[in-house]
Amino acid sequence: MKKKKKLRLKKRPIKVLIALIIIITLGIFGFRIYKDYQYKQTDEYHLLQLGYVEDEVNIILQKGFKSTIQYILNTEKNPLIPKLMQEKYYLNKNLEKYLEYYEEEEDEELSDIIALVNTHANNKWYEEEYDTDTTKNELVLINKFYALKSDYTPSNMQTISLDYSYGEEGENSLINYAYDEFMNLWQNANKAGFYLMVTSSYRDYKGQEEIYNDIKNGQGQRKADEVAARPGHSEHQTGLVVDMTSKNEPTAEEFSDSKAYNWLKENAYLYGFIERYPKDKTYITGYSPESWHWRYVGKQAAKIIHEEQITFDEYYAYYIEKDSE
Ligand code: DAL
Ligand code: ZN
Repeated sequence: MKKKKKLRLKKRPIKVLIALIIIITLGIFGFRIYKDYQYKQTDEYHLLQLGYVEDEVNIILQKGFKSTIQYILNTEKNPLIPKLMQEKYYLNKNLEKYLEYYEEEEDEELSDIIALVNTHANNKWYEEEYDTDTTKNELVLINKFYALKSDYTPSNMQTISLDYSYGEEGENSLINYAYDEFMNLWQNANKAGFYLMVTSSYRDYKGQEEIYNDIKNGQGQRKADEVAARPGHSEHQTGLVVDMTSKNEPTAEEFSDSKAYNWLKENAYLYGFIERYPKDKTYITGYSPESWHWRYVGKQAAKIIHEEQITFDEYYAYYIEKDSE
């Protein structure tokens, strides 16, 4: 009798141990299944399933907005997508447009596709027209797509003296804060040995219309569109622009080859001015190069534009309009 009791006591802990082992094993197994199930719900898993490799998945997850990733998951694998996403000025909101444009222009560099789409320049000039946001002040965007109303006139204008400009007394003017910086620039250019002269600055809608129509009537619309803005589309209407050459090189041709022009290229940004229609950027601006046309955008924007060698159109798309879901 005594012996039997002893045996029962020994068996019980073994049973408990076995039960524990079974519970733990099932637990671990169940947890694994649960984790696996959870992973299969992730974007990472679905992207891998679509055929993107790990590096591509990481780029998509890092750069893509929720809605972008959803779009990618609903379409076939496209290796172009992570490549586009690695470009500096990539914007999620334009992804579909980049892809559409690439279909038409497969030989185009990806950075160019991005620049063109971001600035609307993948469209025909003047095909789309937007009212520009004048509350942006010195950062207002005017180009072949963004326009000012015909009655827009800047306020707080300051006349440029005939010491620094051609034409008649009072003919040339700038918005006061752009004027102050122009004078700073002028003085520093002068110290460096260059005597800059303003050839044109603020022009109202009517004035621009006359210039454009004169060229159009004389040389045709195609030529006119290369060198002059249509009325409402000229930065001159903002009061933020000076056209200038130098006393020693008064013509545009001479000035384009001058040291004064080089000085401006290296230093104008320090005063908030940028070269608005540089060489090699016609595909974005739509205008042939204008060594004389300098636009005030403020020092912060000018520094970035200068350092990154981008046009104001590209700057505006990336740094002002920015990306959005
Ligand atoms: N020449 C520049 C583009 C203008 O007409 O505003
Ligand atoms: Zn100009």
